[in-house]
Amino acid sequence: MEIKSLYEEYKQYFNVGTCVGVPHFNGNNTETELIKKHFNLLVAENCTKMMYIYRGLNDFNWKEGDDFVRFCQENNKLIRWHNFVWHAQTAPWIFLKEGVPVNMKDFFQNNINPADYASKELIEKRLQHYIQTVCDRYKGKIYSYDVVNECISDKLFALRTREDHSLWQEVMGPDYVSKAFLWAREADPDAELVINDYNLETIPQKRQAMFDFVKEQKSKGIPIDTIGLQMHINIFDSVPFIEETIEMFGKLGVNVIVTEMEISLYRFEEKEKKIIDADLLKVQADKYYECFEVFRRQAQKGILKDVVLWGVQDNHSWKNDFPVPGRGDAPLLFDKDGKPKPCFNAIVK
Ligand code: XIL
Repeated sequence: MEIKSLYEEYKQYFNVGTCVGVPHFNGNNTETELIKKHFNLLVAENCTKMMYIYRGLNDFNWKEGDDFVRFCQENNKLIRWHNFVWHAQTAPWIFLKEGVPVNMKDFFQNNINPADYASKELIEKRLQHYIQTVCDRYKGKIYSYDVVNECISDKLFALRTREDHSLWQEVMGPDYVSKAFLWAREADPDAELVINDYNLETIPQKRQAMFDFVKEQKSKGIPIDTIGLQMHINIFDSVPFIEETIEMFGKLGVNVIVTEMEISLYRFEEKEKKIIDADLLKVQADKYYECFEVFRRQAQKGILKDVVLWGVQDNHSWKNDFPVPGRGDAPLLFDKDGKPKPCFNAIVK
């Protein structure tokens, strides 16, 4: 029997997307075919992150970003840009005084000496230049940008600090978020600007912190159009809580999108490998079904716009090694051979 297209199935409600890796758009394999058939909105899994592109003020590496954008255009896919400001996969030189060498080990261990920080003005100039240069290159082609990624702390339920491995607030002050959004709006006035984070749909205090933060930003006229729920969830998470979150954010007058969804078979740091049998896959299928019912309802209410999954085939999911290296997982819609799993069949009838 012919397998129906996932995005066609939901066309009247929302776009359905996935992240893609370099081998998927620079090559042709089963997964490339699945991407073309089932998703109409794509985001690069890694190659558009600052660490890959921004090598120096006048040293941009466009190779894979260009290949990604070309692939999307040739296949008529909408494009999400991930991302401008994040504490991870960043370009450490951006924080440092001219001439101070980058030591990745120190950077990862949070050992940068504040005496080596560049001035606030220089860091702002570098960040604005980055946002402006990316937008100048791709303006008109990008549908949506993650302007700021993961800025809310899981410990403080406020903006991340250096203790949470983010130097942004430390070097630019708390209004770095506002500035990034203003620069992005100026550089590409027609695209959607997103603030994106994880655990918003699972942890009440983090959700509240994002709500309060966006409310404050909006009251100051900062152009945040949309809140992105990453939705790296698992089979134990509550679907009613997810729906409540979408409705709550909708009250701020912003749109809500799902940006990085997968449903893990494990609780976050669960270590023991599971036997992945039909019963377990049925539990996962039910969870996907319930989530997509919520998405459909919230799309009909005009709040939810897009749903993006974080990958296609289980064997290529980042969850195989995160947060427990080597444990494995099977959180996506297609198995290692690209065959639809019960969860795919639950959402595409
Ligand atoms: C992950 C990628 O999937 C991995 O390949 C990479 O090693 C680390 O980053 N939140 C995000 C994504 O915003 O960029 C992350 O992607 C997953 C968590």
